[in-house]
Amino acid sequence: MVRLKDLGIEENYAFNFDDFILVPQYIDIEPSEISLQTKFTTNITLNVPFVSSPMDTVTEAEMAITLARNGGIGVIHRNCSIEEQIEQVKRVKRAESFIIRDVVVIHPDATVGEAAKQMQEHGISGLPVVDENNKLLGIITGRDVRFASPEIKVREAMTKDVIVANEKITPETSIELMKKYRIEKLPVVDENNRLVGLITYKDVSLRGKYKDAVRDEQGRLRVAAAVSPFDLDRAVKLSKFVDALVIDVSHFHNENVISSTKKIIEKVQCDVVIGNLGSKEGVLDSLSKLDKVAGLRVGIGSGSVCTTTQLTRAGSPTLYAVAKAREALDEIGMEIPIIADGGIRNAGDIAISIAFGASCAMMGYLFAGCKESPAPMMILGGRYYKLHRGMGSVSARQKRIAVDRYARLSKEIAEGTEAWLPYKGEATNVIQELAAGLRAAMGYAGARNIKELQTLAKVKRVSTTVFTKATDLLFPGETR
Ligand code: XMP
Repeated sequence: MVRLKDLGIEENYAFNFDDFILVPQYIDIEPSEISLQTKFTTNITLNVPFVSSPMDTVTEAEMAITLARNGGIGVIHRNCSIEEQIEQVKRVKRAESFIIRDVVVIHPDATVGEAAKQMQEHGISGLPVVDENNKLLGIITGRDVRFASPEIKVREAMTKDVIVANEKITPETSIELMKKYRIEKLPVVDENNRLVGLITYKDVSLRGKYKDAVRDEQGRLRVAAAVSPFDLDRAVKLSKFVDALVIDVSHFHNENVISSTKKIIEKVQCDVVIGNLGSKEGVLDSLSKLDKVAGLRVGIGSGSVCTTTQLTRAGSPTLYAVAKAREALDEIGMEIPIIADGGIRNAGDIAISIAFGASCAMMGYLFAGCKESPAPMMILGGRYYKLHRGMGSVSARQKRIAVDRYARLSKEIAEGTEAWLPYKGEATNVIQELAAGLRAAMGYAGARNIKELQTLAKVKRVSTTVFTKATDLLFPGETR
């Protein structure tokens, strides 16, 4: 692990990614063989150290699904009602699970129009039809809806002869059955024909496709969600569905925040990540007052759309915050994953964060311009752009008040801004590029896995000229 005292870094120096460089060291394997497996929380293992930020232009279900399929995890933002946030979490859990337990169903007396609306709202293509006792009567799919009048009852448009399975069915047999009968949905029923789950062809067939996917014990994709420390109700409700809750405040080291978080941790069963923290004292104090902290989110004021440092001249640059959190954990002999958050621009920033003791990196900017981000798109001069905005920006704060009348804005001033980012296409490509870049960095640093990067990496401070290239000295259009 990189230690500040070994680097001769004086106590009063707050630094960031560009202040250091990884020293190349011997390695006996190729970059492609390097493992990126790491921890997000004490109980959640990732296959790549990438986490998407809880921002309303970055992470809803689509982004979280893509992150989890590719080995990372998404944190669903909280700039929406509790119900909407839970629905986003459920969408992730429904994607690709083998037997979906939380099935969206419809009553036979509902209209076809209502069925179509439900399908659209939940982003699904078919609904089992059940009576008041949850007895399966039929199934209505997008195809049935398309060719029926919206006013008629579901019982008149549904398919009545439904092929069903029992709970003991394996993924392989379910695929065989669906292929044989050319169906895409297989309701799972108990001995009394009561619906207990649903298997979809899409989910089962995707399971084999994403080898790095991060899943829970039931085979569903993992997902986290952000909560305010003051919203116990939201935290308790969400905790029944998520793998981890992320306490989402810009300055965690605050008595009210810590005591409110304590109540949340006492009430929920899932992992709880605390943050954001930016000092050794903050980490030590928080850990002395809280039990069962599962992760530390660190870095204050370095985010791409964050104006905190300019506005207040206060902050903790992300790499410095990682180093200080690591010092704190070393001092008390605890092992809690550190999540480097804010200002990460490329794989090198992630590599250097890990060398200083982080387990993974949280990113907003890098994912914001992707197809899966829930942000508006604009075309300007024939090019596509997507919005990225700070959660403390004027417009994000306005939305918070509009969607949640209990929202508590503790600050009187905006600490974030907005930017239109060039459209980047699919997040899978961004994740794969980041993974390849990180493996290349680790290859140079002589680390065969994340643990080795954390423990064996050597770094040097750089002079101001190190990152200057010969091409920086050219006039625009001039070549050498
Ligand atoms: P990047 O650079 O990846 O940073 O976009 C994402 C992180 O920035 C933080 N964040 C903010 N910080 N004002 C702030 O001071 C804001 O409005 C704001 N919005 C997001 C947050 O930690 C996120 O993960």
